[in-house]
Amino acid sequence: MKIGIDQISFYTAQYFLDLKTLAEARGVDPEKFYTGIGQEKMGIPPPDEDVVTMAASAAFRLKERGALEGVEAMLFATESGIDQSKAAGMFVHGVLELPARCRVVELKQACYSATAALRMAMGLVAMKPKSKVLVIASDIARYELGSPGESTQGCGAVAFTVSADPRVLAIDPEAGFYADDVMDFWRPNYLSEALVDGKYSTLVYIKALQESWKQYAAESGRSLEDFARFCYHIPFTRMAAKAHQKLAKGISDEELQRVIGESLIYSRSAGNCYSASLYVGLCSLLDNAVEDLNGKRIGLYSYGSGCVGEFFSGVVQAGYRAALLTPAHENLLAGRTELTFQQYEDIYHYGIPTDGGEYIFPQYRTGPFRFSGMQGHKRIYAKARI
Ligand code: HMG
Repeated sequence: MKIGIDQISFYTAQYFLDLKTLAEARGVDPEKFYTGIGQEKMGIPPPDEDVVTMAASAAFRLKERGALEGVEAMLFATESGIDQSKAAGMFVHGVLELPARCRVVELKQACYSATAALRMAMGLVAMKPKSKVLVIASDIARYELGSPGESTQGCGAVAFTVSADPRVLAIDPEAGFYADDVMDFWRPNYLSEALVDGKYSTLVYIKALQESWKQYAAESGRSLEDFARFCYHIPFTRMAAKAHQKLAKGISDEELQRVIGESLIYSRSAGNCYSASLYVGLCSLLDNAVEDLNGKRIGLYSYGSGCVGEFFSGVVQAGYRAALLTPAHENLLAGRTELTFQQYEDIYHYGIPTDGGEYIFPQYRTGPFRFSGMQGHKRIYAKARI
């Protein structure tokens, strides 16, 4: 029985900062960001947008198509948790008015958790082939202002349904995975910005890739030539390029662009979306590939700092294009509002009140839902006027 991704939707906030603007403010050559890091823009969530509203906006598109009917579980992957106890997915369950007969849980292992959610969803579907599971990954990448990580911020969410006989991508059973207790990137509960040992994190990312690939290749008997395209976890697009160069030693620039280029388009503009990043790359590939990928095998590498890496693969299904949300994704990215540097810093400093009082947040541009305020330490979500 084939199990995999049936429908997939991507959302990022309606605001961005061009990295040229950041470079100018920080006195850095813009080419360092555009070429050295491989990023052009970073998605910035306004104060009334968070991981819940981004997740709900991504999943709403699936709901509009009737894709969420009969969903028996929602697995919500994030490392930008909003509560120590209540799963962020519960709020999404509420605003999307999902059925009461639906398990909801939040998963965490840095950027890896969406792949853990995919694996768990596949297990649930294998046990009950007529069932369907909704996986959502939603994150906001935030580093200290002026730090080396600042240019690799971003935000976004991906929602996808997992089912038998999927329309988009059937996941292969083989996988290579690797875990190591390292401190390359982390965020203590008392901080709202991640801490990172940047250069070290790139080395651990590569080490986990090499170990995962070795295991995957041994288990599957496949070699790099068996893949039409590759999608990587994308903290910044240059990282994915460097990662693939490590596996495919001596690859030409042209061939590198052919096998990963289409997967990097959305991330170059949205920035790091942590748990969602690999799946933003998958959306970007499926939406932008000129070649018909029907029947083609895609290699996927998921990495979450701390760390867990997994190399796995999937086969694109016949007629997949009809299941995609390509125009919606393109319109979303094309319709965003550019921020000035001052607006970016103001939004960065806009803190969520912690005193339990009553607050109404200003209305910014969002998707269909907004984080409208706080009352008695409770977050309030509402439909947005759009
Ligand atoms: P940095 O010190 O600002 O940058 O940190 P750099 O000095 O190393 O320069 C970066 C590249 O730009 C270099 O290229 C320079 O040569 C080049 P490389 O040598 O690497 O090929 N460069 C230029 N190119 C063209 N024109 C110029 C120019 N100047 C310099 N004028 C770093 C970079 C990535 C470390 C930093 O941004 C950072 O700490 N980012 C956050 C951490 C991160 O993204 N790590 C990635 C791996 S870990 C991961 O993916 C997990 C994660 O997503 C979290 C999770 O799992 O939850 C982060």
